[in-house]
Amino acid sequence: MPPLTDDAPALPLDAQGILELAARSMFYLFSSVSQGMFLVDLSGRIVWVNEGYQRFLPDLGFSSLDQFLGRMVEEVIPNTGMRRVLETGNPVLIDLLTNKAGTFVVSRIPLRDDGGSVIGAIGIVLFDHPETTLQPLISKFALLQRDLDDARRELASQRRRSLVAAAAGDGERRSKYTFASFIGSSPAAAEVKRQARRAAQSTSPVLLLGETGTGKELLAHAIHAASSRAGGPFVSVNIAAVPDTLLEAEFFGVAPGAYTGASAKGRDGKFKLADGGTLFLDEIGDMPQSLQAKLLRALQEGEIEPLGSNKLVPFNVRILAATSRDLAAQVREGRFREDLFYRLHVLPVRVPPLRARRSDIPALVESLGDDLALRNGTPPPEVLSDAMALLAGQPWRGNIRELRNVIEQAVMRSEGQSIDAAQLERILREAGVEPAAPVQDTSAVVVAEAEDESRYLRPLAEQVAELERRAIAAAMKAHGGNKLATARQLGISRATLYGRLENPE
Ligand SMILES: Nc1ncnc2c1ncn2[C@@H]1O[C@H](COP(=O)(O)OP(=O)(O)O)[C@@H](O)[C@H]1O
Ligand SMILES: [Mg+2]
Repeated sequence: MPPLTDDAPALPLDAQGILELAARSMFYLFSSVSQGMFLVDLSGRIVWVNEGYQRFLPDLGFSSLDQFLGRMVEEVIPNTGMRRVLETGNPVLIDLLTNKAGTFVVSRIPLRDDGGSVIGAIGIVLFDHPETTLQPLISKFALLQRDLDDARRELASQRRRSLVAAAAGDGERRSKYTFASFIGSSPAAAEVKRQARRAAQSTSPVLLLGETGTGKELLAHAIHAASSRAGGPFVSVNIAAVPDTLLEAEFFGVAPGAYTGASAKGRDGKFKLADGGTLFLDEIGDMPQSLQAKLLRALQEGEIEPLGSNKLVPFNVRILAATSRDLAAQVREGRFREDLFYRLHVLPVRVPPLRARRSDIPALVESLGDDLALRNGTPPPEVLSDAMALLAGQPWRGNIRELRNVIEQAVMRSEGQSIDAAQLERILREAGVEPAAPVQDTSAVVVAEAEDESRYLRPLAEQVAELERRAIAAAMKAHGGNKLATARQLGISRATLYGRLENPE
């Protein structure tokens, strides 16, 4: 360390002088490293804005500093917490502020006079775009927020259901969706609804396959509601959400006094609770091997064995299952039992990803917006055309669940009724998604959808049958239902045509 010399700049000698110097240094430090600062007086009026802060003004809706200065802070900075700092005199050292200009990490510090009374406050934007600078923290926050939203929604719908059930005078477990709840009229949506409707007429197990958020659970409810078991209970188990060690008891129940700690009365399993109705096994691809064996046995025998009992109990339950995993690949890798796979794969229903039915996006957005409005008691949001085009162009890896989250956030954050593209881009970026190019005309994408090659990645027999059905329907329509002309045009015998019309598969 160099020796201190007489000409080294000296600290002030008195304590007051040191404090003043420190305060000044800190002020300049904050002023230069932060993204922006401003001051309000005791009444909450903006009295000063530094250079850095001025670049937020356009996003806050101001084109000049003059319009901003002298206004009340909450009038010009939506959702700000400055007022509270003025009122309590307590600083907020760190907070996340979200408004139409984005999400910011901010500090709010009261200013006091010599006597210690609050005379104003200083607002500091420590980081803008925390989604990039504080990525891990923010994604954790976004995740928690999403979980919270999901939990709130679930709670609200349970409340609604119990109100409906109470009004109907029964405490039964009912399904909450019907086919009418499945929004979409694109070819892909129409086809999946047709398959699901057909499945509802059957008594065999149904296997719903598709990415997460595509509507598998919704369809399971709808299949139950349209089936002959609609009067019975609809019970679902999310296999991925129950610890492996508890699954067996959850499925098959526990006999009275089966083991130390088990309740003396025993406990009913989901098979028992679903008696006379439908049991929905969600995320079946996550089922541990030991339970796969037991489930297979139960399905083969039509009987279950509650934990700790050695009696077999017959059950009367229709099984629906769903998975977002590639179950066939899991079978090949030896992670899912082949025999169980074939037992469940009787009526597979492939639910298309949202990106394969982009033309449904406007209708979905409208319906999701209406749902939100109903829940919040507000008028439905108006999605401006640039925003709709942006929504139509996204890849939607999380499908309709992701679309709903984005709309929900946009509604929460926008001050007026309308949602524009800039807002949505910010929300997507904050969730770590780089926005894809907008698609102006969703009716044009219907053509592209028809050419989406993933449509062809399923059994050929199914595709041929679908094509035959469409060709017959088109020819019948063109010939006003005249079967002879239809058969002639399609180059098939009348007997073949009759056969197809009676038994379309
Ligand atoms: N076709 C659709 N129309 C309207 N809402 C849908 C549709 N498909 C899915 N949703 C909604 O999207 C969310 C995710 O659907 P869900 O059935 O849970 O998907 P999955 O089980 O495939 O993960 C739910 O809130 C559901 O109501
Ligand atoms: Mg699901």
